[in-house]
Amino acid sequence: MRQLKVSKKIEQYLDKRKTLVDKALKRFMPQPSGLAGIVIRAMDYSLFAGGKRMRPILCIAGAEAVAESADDVLPVACAIELIHTYSLIHDDLPVMDNDDLRRGKPTNHKVFGEAVALLAGDGLLTMAFNLMAGYGAEKKVAKKALLRVIDLIASAAGYKGMVGGQVVDITYEGKEPDPVVVEYIHRHKTGALIAASVTAGTILAGGNEDEVKSINRYGQQIGLAFQIADDILNIEGDRGVLGKGIGSDKERGKITYPSVFGIAESKNIQKQLIDHAIESLERFDNRADTLRDLARYVIKRKA
Ligand code: IPE
Ligand code: IPE
Ligand code: MG
Ligand code: MG
Repeated sequence: MRQLKVSKKIEQYLDKRKTLVDKALKRFMPQPSGLAGIVIRAMDYSLFAGGKRMRPILCIAGAEAVAESADDVLPVACAIELIHTYSLIHDDLPVMDNDDLRRGKPTNHKVFGEAVALLAGDGLLTMAFNLMAGYGAEKKVAKKALLRVIDLIASAAGYKGMVGGQVVDITYEGKEPDPVVVEYIHRHKTGALIAASVTAGTILAGGNEDEVKSINRYGQQIGLAFQIADDILNIEGDRGVLGKGIGSDKERGKITYPSVFGIAESKNIQKQLIDHAIESLERFDNRADTLRDLARYVIKRKA
């Protein structure tokens, strides 16, 4: 099997874009004042606890593959990070995965209690739609493209995507590992939002239909590979580097790629997905080199 190289360049790119996203998130978040201030503090806590900002960075890179500047996609990129952070807060709740550590800090419900954590998640999810809808008026982006993106992101986050995947993940705990079920879980709970992130960037930056289709295919493949990597890190990762607990999938009887295929085969599947993701970018010249590097990074990451 061919070795996938991750360049130093991509690490610098990730750093720079993360700074950009963090600054924009700070700008968009309200001050925790008033009677309901505690829910904003809880939203803020998980949002700025850490996080790689992979989805907003993919949204930016999806725009950069078809346009000179990606500045105009920042509000949507940040909205996606709000949705992702909501999903992590709910995922960690005792009724879900019951985890204590996230992004290197105690999970939201450990600090604010379950009720406030639940509401902080709801607050982040709904605020994401404020951000996207308000941005249309402010930036005068093509309304049609923006509506298409909002619809795409809502589908990826909802029952057709992440919510659908999460419900199968939870209801199949302790059941017989099954290749069809695990692919369904991973494509939905994680792959859908990742694919929507990169595709949204391309749509907003004015990519043509062929470009949008190729980028979406790329996103589906790296999205599935991203969750397989998460499964492998839950076994082989370092708690300190990951900032979250390890060994929990096995403990909870989760259906994962390693539980269905074993670690070695899971790594082969991951590599094939990344190869196919890069092949999906055939129509792009070096404009898509960042996306190619990001694909390699998805399965080389340690956190
Ligand atoms: C973790 O996502 C949950 C999954 C969907 C696999 P990330 O690995 O992107 O977590 P952060 O945002 O960096 O904390
Ligand atoms: C996370 O899946 C998926 C979502 C939060 C939507 P996991 O439960 O496998 O992710 P971690 O390992 O807790 O981050
Ligand atoms: Mg989970
Ligand atoms: Mg979890």
